[in-house]
Parts: sequence; structure tokens; C-alpha cells
Amino acid sequence: AVTIKDIFRNTEAYLNKNISISGWVRTVRVSKSFGFIEVNDGSFFKNLQVVFEENLPNFKEVASLTLSSAITVEGILLASPGAKQAFELKAANIAIAGLSQADYPLQKKRHTFEYLRTIAHLRPRTNTFSAVFRVRSVLSYAIHKFFQERGFVYVHTPIITGSDAEGAGEMFRVTTLDFNNLPRDEKGDIDFSKDFFGKETNLTVSGQLEVETYCMAFKKVYTFGPTFRAENSNTPRHAAEFWMIEPEIAFADLNDNMNLAEDMLKYVISYVLENAPEEMEFFNAFIDNTLFAKLDNVINSQFEHITYTKAIEILEQAKEKFEYPVGWGLDLKTEHERYITEKYFKKPVFIINYPKEIKAFYMRMNDDNKTVAAMDLLVPGVGEIIGGSQREERLEILEQRMRELGLKEEDYWWYLDIRKYGGTKHAGFGLGLERLLMYITGMSNIRDVVAFPRTVKSADF
Ligand code: 4AD
Ligand code: MG
Repeated sequence: AVTIKDIFRNTEAYLNKNISISGWVRTVRVSKSFGFIEVNDGSFFKNLQVVFEENLPNFKEVASLTLSSAITVEGILLASPGAKQAFELKAANIAIAGLSQADYPLQKKRHTFEYLRTIAHLRPRTNTFSAVFRVRSVLSYAIHKFFQERGFVYVHTPIITGSDAEGAGEMFRVTTLDFNNLPRDEKGDIDFSKDFFGKETNLTVSGQLEVETYCMAFKKVYTFGPTFRAENSNTPRHAAEFWMIEPEIAFADLNDNMNLAEDMLKYVISYVLENAPEEMEFFNAFIDNTLFAKLDNVINSQFEHITYTKAIEILEQAKEKFEYPVGWGLDLKTEHERYITEKYFKKPVFIINYPKEIKAFYMRMNDDNKTVAAMDLLVPGVGEIIGGSQREERLEILEQRMRELGLKEEDYWWYLDIRKYGGTKHAGFGLGLERLLMYITGMSNIRDVVAFPRTVKSADF
């Protein structure tokens, strides 16, 4: 069957032909003897205008169609005399496939994003969210395409894990134990041997550790899947459930890693601009007028590279501008990240070589013994969208670091094995899909780029 997308993209082929379109009513305007319906069939961002006249057998029913009713229209596609749209479908027959009730909450007026979150099941029918979620799909495809074209193997890492990949303890526990009757051992601790897996398990915070093991077999791998964090951060950039892309490359160092990240971002942004042009026009017109300029800047600029130490120097010069303190050893807050990328460099910035104390246990120790080969990529408007590192491939140094941090070797024995059997230098990073999508669409709240967001105190739907 022909879609509205076909009609917009290849109009000549359908002009003056009989066609049939099935979709949902977005608007209805009626005068005495004729009317217009804007119909959307989900194939395309734009609506098709249907014109109907009094001679339609069910003119009355059609004239009183409620918003979001499902219809099938048969008729001829005509070049339209009106300047507003180049063509319209002149209806010979309109079948009502599903009438929408009159209390449909999305009547034709502007709604706030806050309100639309309360009807997350209906919001994909609005222009904004139809654009967001189509771009999310196109972007996901572009990410796969980028890695697949370069010979990366897609690895499905587990959702339920027995280890903490970030060592940060921000995990959602998975358990079958009965909370009203928790089994206890002699010491009074919860006895997880009675649990489904016979041990404590959690939802994954990152597929990195598992994907590293596959990296040592395939050399270039990536994961792309749901990730869970029980971070108590109620911000526009944090979700408890988000999607992360994690490539990992062997025989590679931090520079190779940064080059990969830069190439990937440029590729996927270009791909979305080319393959979702109507949606991107919409964002640039209605969400963020500087969007195209910003994305052009990303595609055409060389990303900046600075060390953490240099970043601290830059921030110390502007100390009075910040709410939170800056100083060597302290982690960067969002306000600091945004200053560096938005005010100071005005483009994406990699910050490398962070103090080991503020980064994860697996990052490779630098020769100064104080910093690790970490990289964060900051972008204007969002802050951190990528976190990554070169990994510690030296067994003794890794074991020592794990001991210092109190990580149990028995939980990570397989991860340590990788260092024993042909372990070589390797690196990788994690990109938050939602953070990237916010950046590409200009949407400013992570809750508006996830279909059914899970955030602090909020898991409706
Ligand atoms: O910096 P993070 O914590 O790095 C890792 O998890 C590494 N294991 C990745 C790796 O090297 N393979 O997270 C990576 C990215 C962040 O830069 C951010 O884009 C996103 O994941 N992210 C979140 N996005 C939304 N909500 C949250 N709560 C997020 N936490 C991290
Ligand atoms: Mg990070």
C-alpha cells in the first residue's frame, strides 16, 4: 500500500492516481459543503491533506470526526490549487476504522512537555514526539551502521549481572527473595544462597567488562542495550534506565579511542541530518534555533583535547562564576563542564587523564601514578555524553587497584583472566543514547527523549 512518505518523496508517481491511505485524523476543518482532514499514517513526519465534499455518502459522520480517529481514505491525488501544500487527496470514500472518544486529551492546542509526560502513551501522536522518536530510531540505525561498516561485532551483554562494572554501587538489585521473610545466615546477614541465582545479582550498569572479554576475541566489538543506574540524581540528564553504546577496541590506546568517538559522532549526526530532514527542520524551527549551526560546528570542527589538569586551570580562572568549588582532585560538575565546552572552547571537548580517585578501577594508570587514561567528551548544551578510557591491561597493577578499592577478586575472576591469556592494550567508551539524542534534537529533558522514562520517584506506565 502507498504511504504518505511515498507521496511526499515521489509525488509525480501518484498524481492523478487512485490511492488509499490509512491513518489517524490530526485536524478537521469543515465548512457547509466541504471539509479538510489532515491525516497522518505514521510513515512520515508530515500530514496529508484530504479534501471531502457533500457528495460523500457519510459526509455528516466525516464532518464530525473526532481528533485521532482512525480512517481509511480512497480517492485521487490532485495537484492542489492552494499555495499551502502542493497536493491533496480528494476523497471518494472515507471509512471510519476506529472512532476516537470526544475526551481525547490531545486537542489542537499547544501542550507543555510536563503535561505530555503524564500521557506518555499518547504523546507520540504529537509533532514534537513523533519527530523525537523517529529520530531516535534513525539514530540507533546509524550507530549500528557505523560500527557494522567498520567490521565491529555486536555483542549482547547480559542485563542481569553478578558484578558491579563501575564499582560505584549504584545498582538495582534483582532478587526472588521474600522481603517479608528474608533468609538469614548465622551472622544475621541476608543469605543470598537462597536466592534464584544463589548469589547477589543486579541490573547492569554497563556492559563494558563483558564486552572487553569479547574484544580479546574479535578485536572490535560494541554493545548497544539498556543500562540501569540507581543514581539518586534528579536532573534533566539522568535516567534510571537508559541505553548505552559501548565500543571496545584492541591493540588501541586512548588516542585511537578518541578518534573513534569523534568519527562516530560526526557520522551519526550527518546520517540523521540526511535521513530525517523534515524532523530536523522542525527541531531547528521550534525547539532550538541554533541547532543546525551547532551540529554543523560538530561535523566540521576538530574536537578539542585537553587534560584534566588544564581543565582545572581554566576553571580556576573563572572560579567566581561557579556554585561548586573547583580544584585539582575534585570531580567536574555540570556547570564546570558546560563552561568549558560552551563558553571557553565553544565546541566538543575531550578531557583526558583524570585523577585516579575520581574514576573507575579498570582505567589504565598513567606513568605519573596519579592520573588514569580516562576520556570524557563534553558537548555544548548537554555536558558529558561520552565516558571512556584505555583499560588497565597489566594484571598486577589491576589487582592492586582492586585491592585498594576493596573489590572482591572472586566477583571479577573472569575479568582478570583476560589479562592472563594474551591481554593487550585496549580501550573503549560508553555513549549515552539519550544524551546524544538530546544533543541532536535540542530537547532539554531526558524525560522527553525516552518513550516511558524511569527517573527518581517516577516509573509510571
Ligand atoms: O561515564 P559512564 O558511567 O561510563 C561507563 O559506564 C563506562 N563503563 C563506559 C565504557 O567505557 N564502556 O557512562 C557512559 C555514558 C555517559 O557519558 C552518559 O552519556 C551516559 O552513559 N549515562 C547516562 N545517561 C543517562 N542517564 C544516566 N543516569 C547516565 N549515566 C551515564
Ligand atoms: Mg562518566
